[in-house]
Amino acid sequence: MKAIILKEVGEPQNLVLADVPLPTIAANEVLVQVKAISVNPVDAYVRRNKAYLDAVYQTQGNEEHIILGWDVSGIVTELGASVTKFKIGDQVFGNFKFIGQANAYAEFIAAPENELVLKPDNVTFEAAAGATMAAMTAWVSLVNHGKIKKGDKVIIHGASGGVGHYGVQFAKHFGAYVVGVASGDNRDFVLGIGANEFIDYKSQRFEELVTDADIVHDSVWSDDDKHIERSLKALKPGGTLLSLIVYPETEFVERALSEKNVKVLRVNVTPNPTYEHDMEYVARLLSSGEVKTHISHVFPLEEMYKAHTIVQTKNTVGKIIVVP
Ligand SMILES: NC(=O)c1ccc[n+]([C@@H]2O[C@H](COP(=O)([O-])OP(=O)(O)OC[C@H]3O[C@@H](n4cnc5c(N)ncnc54)[C@H](OP(=O)(O)O)[C@@H]3O)[C@@H](O)[C@H]2O)c1
Repeated sequence: MKAIILKEVGEPQNLVLADVPLPTIAANEVLVQVKAISVNPVDAYVRRNKAYLDAVYQTQGNEEHIILGWDVSGIVTELGASVTKFKIGDQVFGNFKFIGQANAYAEFIAAPENELVLKPDNVTFEAAAGATMAAMTAWVSLVNHGKIKKGDKVIIHGASGGVGHYGVQFAKHFGAYVVGVASGDNRDFVLGIGANEFIDYKSQRFEELVTDADIVHDSVWSDDDKHIERSLKALKPGGTLLSLIVYPETEFVERALSEKNVKVLRVNVTPNPTYEHDMEYVARLLSSGEVKTHISHVFPLEEMYKAHTIVQTKNTVGKIIVVP
């Protein structure tokens, strides 16, 4: 089968097309013919940084090839001996073996049955592939940790990006009042997916405009390491600060609690004990049309390097999809 292998840690051009053996499946796994792959910022971090690669891909040192990627949609073509959830021909999607070796940049993948869910018939493979790691991150942050509810005022940083554009739509689904933050070029996009207000981080300071948020979802990889301090200022007493990038220091967490009764929670997309339930919920939202994947680029498999060149800018609008 065709796959994209990482020749060596470095530039996007190190991702090259190769012929590799089909993966073998364990008893609890299915073989999936991949129809669409989604690319995330973490893919670019591990591609260019050996320490990240070792930590996230969990390199053993004896791999014949390094094949990145953790997000797919596709069709089940073979069942492991103990698989009960799927049958051959089922259309599925999911974020699997993260962290670990999912080897998703390929024509076929081997995935555990409990890390995939059925793709609704009326949702395209591309839209489903997008709604995996990015959608789950927004869900884990806002729903599982943030306990978002009707009437909450929520600031979503990075509202035009992969995680943020799902976050805006999930927050609206739960009846929240959403303040989306991105650069001015993406104002219409963010308001168009349902945000009630827009803040341009390049010309405005969000913490001067909002000081009564119930939840701030902070996914900003910023040179300004005080970004979570600013997010704390935007919260009302009793609010929740969800930090996706920074691991907040104990002193910061304790101060937020004692001065403002604000909970500060670090968000990681995995482990997520309610993953299957959450993905099935997302599948229903995609099927009903209440949540949509905005796809800004689709590339053929051999042009994976183009997807990486864009995703590493950290200015992606919605999702980038690659099709084998
Ligand atoms: N903790 C976890 O488990 C986890 C999981 C997944 C992702 N992440 C991280 O979360 C971040 C977002 O992921 P993603 O997939 O959404 O990335 P993405 O698709 O590249 O989107 C990044 C977004 O951030 C916006 N942005 C950049 N600087 C900003 C600022 N100062 N204030 C507000 N928004 C700003 C960009 O808007 P403009 O283009 O308009 O500038 C863009 O919308 C990444 O750093 C990713 O690594 C963490």
